[in-house]
Amino acid sequence: MVEGASASIPFRVQIEIEGSVEENAPFIVQRLVDQLRDLHVTGELAPGATLVEGDVPFGTVESPSEGRGLSIVLQPFPWTDAPPARLEIRFEPGAAGTRLTIELRDWTATLQGVDLRVSDWASAIFLPALLRGLTPSHLRDWYMDTTARRPSGKHAVESYRSPKYHWPSFALLLDRLHLTPSDRLIEVGCGGGAFLHQALESGCSAVGIDHSPEMVRLARAENASTVTQGRLTVFEGDVEKLPAESNTFSVCVCANAFFFFPDPVAALKEMYRALRPGGRLAIVTDTPRARGTPAAPEPFASQSRLYEPDELAELARTAGFSHVEVEEPDLEHYAISLGLPEKVVAVFQGKGGTVLLTALKTRDEGSP
Ligand SMILES: C[S@@+](CC[C@H](N)C(=O)[O-])C[C@H]1O[C@@H](n2cnc3c(N)ncnc32)[C@H](O)[C@@H]1O
Repeated sequence: MVEGASASIPFRVQIEIEGSVEENAPFIVQRLVDQLRDLHVTGELAPGATLVEGDVPFGTVESPSEGRGLSIVLQPFPWTDAPPARLEIRFEPGAAGTRLTIELRDWTATLQGVDLRVSDWASAIFLPALLRGLTPSHLRDWYMDTTARRPSGKHAVESYRSPKYHWPSFALLLDRLHLTPSDRLIEVGCGGGAFLHQALESGCSAVGIDHSPEMVRLARAENASTVTQGRLTVFEGDVEKLPAESNTFSVCVCANAFFFFPDPVAALKEMYRALRPGGRLAIVTDTPRARGTPAAPEPFASQSRLYEPDELAELARTAGFSHVEVEEPDLEHYAISLGLPEKVVAVFQGKGGTVLLTALKTRDEGSP
C-alpha cells in the first residue's frame, strides 16, 4: 500500500511478511546494511549511528517513535532550511506474521523547500525502483545472487549451513587431497564454511574467502571453535583480488563456485599467486552436461560459465599451473555412502556434469 500526501505522514508503505517479527527484523536490517554498503552508504542501522554516502553524512539513526525498528533523521537537501525529514522502518505483528511499515515523515516540507511534491519523487524515484526490481532480468539476477552467486537471507543461511547437495563434492576433494596438519588451505568461494569444517578435521589451518558478507558471517559462526583456536580465518573478498598473501598456501580449493567467476583466468591467476611453490589446486565445478539437470537448472545453466574439461584445463595452464589433470568423477557412490536422501542421490546418478581439476604451482614466484 502506498499512501499519498497527508500533513504529517506524506508517504507510507506497508508490507505483510510471513514469519515472526523476531525472526524477520534482524535479517531485514542486516540485509539492508549489506545492500547499503554496495551503494556506498555506510553506517550501522542502530541508534546513535550516522549514515554516510561516500564521505558525506546524511542521516542519523534513532529508535522509532513506537514499537520495534529504526528511525533515520534525514537532511537530504542541505541548501534548504526545511526541518529534517524522518524515515521510519517499523516491525510489528501483522496478518501474515510481520507487518513492515516504511514511513517518510516531514518529507513534504523538505521537498517544498526545493519546490517539488511527494508525487514527483514517488513517480520518478520510488515506483521505478520498485518496478525495476520486478523486471525479469533483475528478478533473475537477484534470484541467482541470493540463492547461490552471492547467497543472502534466511533461506541461504539455512541451506549453506549444511549444503547436502555439495557433500559428495566435498568427499571427493577430501579423498584426493589427503590434508594433514602441516597443510595451509585456502578455499575460494567458501560459502557457509561447510567444506572448511570438514577439512579442518585433518588438523590443517585454513583461510576461507567469500564475497557474500552473510556467508562470511555464517562460515565464522559454523567454525567458531577453529576460529578461536586461530586455525581458521574467514575474509570477505573477491576471487579476482584475494585478500591473501602471495606464496602462502599449500592447497587451494574452489568447490561449486568457479562457474560464477566472470574472468576465469584472472581468478586462477589469483589462486596461483596465493599458493606457494609446490602448492596444489583442486576445483570442482560443472560441465555443460549438467545443463538442465537438477545440478544446473535454469536460470543457473544459462547464467553460469560451464566449461568442458579440456577448456578448464587450458584455462589453468594459461594461468600458470602445471601437471593439470581433469576428470569427470562419479559422485553417486559418495552420495550413497554419505547416506544422503534419495532425491539428493538422484542428482548424481550417471557420470558427467561434474569435473574435478587438479594442478600444481611449480614456479617459485607469485605470478606466471
Ligand atoms: C554455490 S556457493 C558454494 C559454496 C561452498 N563452496 C559450497 O560448496 O557449499 C558459491 C559461493 O561462491 C561465492 N562466490 C561467487 N562469486 C565469487 C567471487 N567473485 N568472489 C568470492 N566468492 C564468490 C558465493 O558468494 C557463494 O558463497
